[in-house]
Amino acid sequence: MKPKILVTREVFDEVLEYLSQFFQVASNQSDIPFDSETLASKLSDKQGAVITLTDRIDAALLTRCPNLKAVCNIAVGYNNIDLEACTKAKVMATNTPGVLDDTTGDFAWALILATARRLTEAEAYLRNGQWDGWKLKQFLGLDVHHAMLGIFGLGRIGQVVARRAIGFEMNVIYHDVRRAASEIEQACRASFVNKDELLAKADIVTIHVPYSSATHHLIGKQELERMKPSAILINASRGGVVDDAALIAALHSGTIAGAGLDVFENEPKFNPGFLPLKNVVLAPHIASSSRATRLRMAMLAAQNVVAALTGKTPPNLLNPF
Ligand code: DGY
Repeated sequence: MKPKILVTREVFDEVLEYLSQFFQVASNQSDIPFDSETLASKLSDKQGAVITLTDRIDAALLTRCPNLKAVCNIAVGYNNIDLEACTKAKVMATNTPGVLDDTTGDFAWALILATARRLTEAEAYLRNGQWDGWKLKQFLGLDVHHAMLGIFGLGRIGQVVARRAIGFEMNVIYHDVRRAASEIEQACRASFVNKDELLAKADIVTIHVPYSSATHHLIGKQELERMKPSAILINASRGGVVDDAALIAALHSGTIAGAGLDVFENEPKFNPGFLPLKNVVLAPHIASSSRATRLRMAMLAAQNVVAALTGKTPPNLLNPF
């Protein structure tokens, strides 16, 4: 008898084919996220799960899933998983690091350029039939080339963003909980500064830290007030790292010039205060969404569950025990 697993959201056919070689696979190809009750009931007889950031794995769920051995996230971020509860329940948890760095870094750049050059605002103006001709002072934006880029978090994705900045001949400063190795600083041409210095000096602040209690509202009212009024804020990391209500107030009052956001507090609901603001570029959590990368992420999660349930150590185990 093959072990039973659940794939909680729609994935690519090749991923299901691969998993079917090893498991009896139940999959939610309708892609409507399960509520916590449905998830617990569907997982109650499963040994493994391929999950996404829309599935909350916590102690309450785990007590209802006595056979569960592995939960394998299709994401590098894993704030949807209570790791301590998994460890207590002897459930392996995995994520998908490394395969999405370039794609996510590219998208941070899409947000940087679109926000600095007011692209979505200008496009809406054109589409609405408001364009009546060239004007010298039309949609004046912020120059990206030679600007000061401030990166919160010089991990894998932060490093990609920094290396791309070399092409724009930018000055790069960063802040992180730990200073990066000198080889990394050199490759990224990035200088370590404290949080306040980064906020005060950067023309573009971009966030690449994981979400945790330590990074909750890393950027709030006070931090926004330390930024230059001409500066822009980019977040392609996780909702909750930025205090969205404080950001809306700062965008409204002109405390900062603009923001480019791929992530929000309480996704997929988000603060409606963003909608009337012209100086914010909004995207629905798609930074890693190229076909090739989303396939690699799903395949890596699948490989993790196969390893976990065939007596091997999954390549991306988060909670060794
Ligand atoms: C991740 O991998 O954490 C991304 O946010 C998923 O899109």
